[in-house]
Amino acid sequence: MNCSTAQNINHQISHSTAKQNNMAADALSAAMHWRYAVRRFSQQQVSAQDIHTLTEAVRMSPSAYGLQPYELLVVSSSELRGQLLAHSYGQDKIADCSHLMVFASYRDIDESLLDRYVALAAEARGLHVDELASYASQVRDALAALRTEQRAASAINQAFLALGTLVASAALLGIDCCPMSGFDAEGYDQVLGLSQRGLTAAVICAVGYRHPEDGTAHYPRVRVPRHDWLREY
Ligand SMILES: Cc1cc2nc3c(=O)[nH]c(=O)nc-3n(C[C@H](O)[C@H](O)[C@H](O)COP(=O)(O)O)c2cc1C
Repeated sequence: MNCSTAQNINHQISHSTAKQNNMAADALSAAMHWRYAVRRFSQQQVSAQDIHTLTEAVRMSPSAYGLQPYELLVVSSSELRGQLLAHSYGQDKIADCSHLMVFASYRDIDESLLDRYVALAAEARGLHVDELASYASQVRDALAALRTEQRAASAINQAFLALGTLVASAALLGIDCCPMSGFDAEGYDQVLGLSQRGLTAAVICAVGYRHPEDGTAHYPRVRVPRHDWLREY
């Protein structure tokens, strides 16, 4: 997207009318009720353009301090997915779906991620890195106050947040998915060569289109009633 397209979209969003807001609210509600965790996928492939849209939505997810401490792996290779199936507790949807997305979080949020952020922020905002020194030092101190396991857990949290973006975005595009934590991370790390890059598979998501005979498609959705779950103050 070029800059003027982005500005146009910003303009549309900030100046949307009540009618447009209602339409967007209806579309969001319909999409979230339409989606479900698909257990059986059809052979239909998600287009490259839609995969691009989805991965961009994920890339634009927020993250603590903007550090984006995870990578997104889009696995379409059937050979690789065959190997991953051996570490997926028999969940063959990881091989049958159109694309398998693996959210790989960093095992630590270290100085290199902060340096990367500072360099990117300086470039994006036309600043010298020195002008970001005070922010960098604040983030460095906050990270140093955590143990390595806490930083690793924080990286996993950011990956799960991005998973949420993927699930909602897919639903809005009429694309199905199944978020999954039923896999062996060590096996995934080994097959995908993640450990040597300081990463680990945090969560995965099968993306594609529901099979017309997916038995779970018509299961009523199970949710805690609003009055037992939502507290308004
Ligand atoms: C983090 C996470 C992990 C999940 N792991 C699996 C999984 O390994 N296998 C599976 O079939 N479904 C998995 N699910 C799907 C959930 O079972 C499903 O979202 C939940 O039962 C609610 O159903 P619904 O999404 O169809 O509304 C997972 C969902 C989430 C958010």
